[in-house]
Amino acid sequence: MIETKTRTLVANYSDLQVRSGYSVKMNDEEVALFKVTNGKVYGIENRSPHPKGGVLTEGLVSGEYVFCPVYDWKISLVDGKVQAPDEGQVKTYQVEVEADNVYIII
Ligand code: FES
Repeated sequence: MIETKTRTLVANYSDLQVRSGYSVKMNDEEVALFKVTNGKVYGIENRSPHPKGGVLTEGLVSGEYVFCPVYDWKISLVDGKVQAPDEGQVKTYQVEVEADNVYIII
């Protein structure tokens, strides 16, 4: 079976602030985009992995991690994994930047 991927334009690169979250809707899912200091853009599910958590766009970005605003969990923007001593994982999305266009590929 051939897997077809869809590339959806979700944001303008110039609208993304370095180290702050930007929420976009993809179908029924909410994705948090983060532009890190080196200019790369990551997309992860905009929902904290903590059962009582909030949204990750309010988190603080440091390097390639976002720190949950409520419980201070440290979540990798690369693979969505929560760092020890906490555990869990959020979904990650493939992001592509072309000129000023930011796409999510699903
Ligand atoms: S509200 Fe997310 S781990 Fe905290």
